[in-house]
Amino acid sequence: MLRFPIYPDLAGKVAFVTGGSGGIGAETCRWLAANGARVAVGGRDTAALARITDDMAKGGAEVMAVAADCTDAAALDHARATITARFGAVDVLMAFAGGGTARPAPVHETREDDWRSALDHNLTATFLTLKTFLPAMRERRSGAIVTMASTAGRAASAASSAYASAKAGVIMLTRHLAQEVGPFDVRVNCVSPSAILTERTARHMPAEQRATIAALHPLNRLGTPADVAGAALFLASSSAAWITGSTLDIAGGRLMH
Ligand SMILES: NC(=O)c1ccc[n+]([C@@H]2O[C@H](COP(=O)([O-])OP(=O)(O)OC[C@H]3O[C@@H](n4cnc5c(N)ncnc54)[C@H](OP(=O)(O)O)[C@@H]3O)[C@@H](O)[C@H]2O)c1
Repeated sequence: MLRFPIYPDLAGKVAFVTGGSGGIGAETCRWLAANGARVAVGGRDTAALARITDDMAKGGAEVMAVAADCTDAAALDHARATITARFGAVDVLMAFAGGGTARPAPVHETREDDWRSALDHNLTATFLTLKTFLPAMRERRSGAIVTMASTAGRAASAASSAYASAKAGVIMLTRHLAQEVGPFDVRVNCVSPSAILTERTARHMPAEQRATIAALHPLNRLGTPADVAGAALFLASSSAAWITGSTLDIAGGRLMH
């Protein structure tokens, strides 16, 4: 039985996944490779990048590691040039880099550096990634982009207000851009996960806490990186050809819009 759903139009496409060196992004890279895409795996941790790309290459994937900090426009431009030289122009862009490192605190106690860092690493990193890869997509009149929000950006929660605001910003950036580049046949959609159990979250979450969080979701479990990868591949594929500007909740029913 196939582990991955296959979207035939993804075969031969050039895909770049920021945040590909871990968690949801790494799983998405594996799914893209299984679909025959040529995959550029982005991240900052070069050891993690090497582990993932070596493993994918052993499975026969056409894959390259791309070390770049997405808060750094020059590094992203270098990444774009490197990918284009080896694989060609990027057709599928998964702008997933980010994370919720900001400490949850009441707004009046939120430190300014925490606020700025959360916005920088989530919203500004997404903006810079899109800005870097959009000109070639517009010029070629083709492209599919998937951005990364979070349930925290969809509804008020116990998450940090900075992280929540940054992710809400990603949703609006996605909509704004979808309207702007639709006429260039570039589609832009967003995935918005809740409580995904990655290697990182698994390290910090005891069994009791997992059960408590699972119970907040009608499907009564935590999500997996595969749950998000599956949705992202669908949105990037031509099966979603008439979908742009949407935000897909991958949240086990916790949010129902
Ligand atoms: N896990 C969840 O429950 C959940 C829920 C909702 C949304 N999300 C979002 O999903 C995305 C992936 O999260 P994850 O849980 O899979 O996290 P993860 O396992 O910690 O992976 C985060 C990835 O983002 C990369 N990254 C972070 N900041 C970066 C930067 N400035 N430049 C380049 N790469 C950067 C990391 O690369 P390096 O380690 O190589 O630096 C890593 O590959 C994040 O945007 C997160 O906010 C996660």
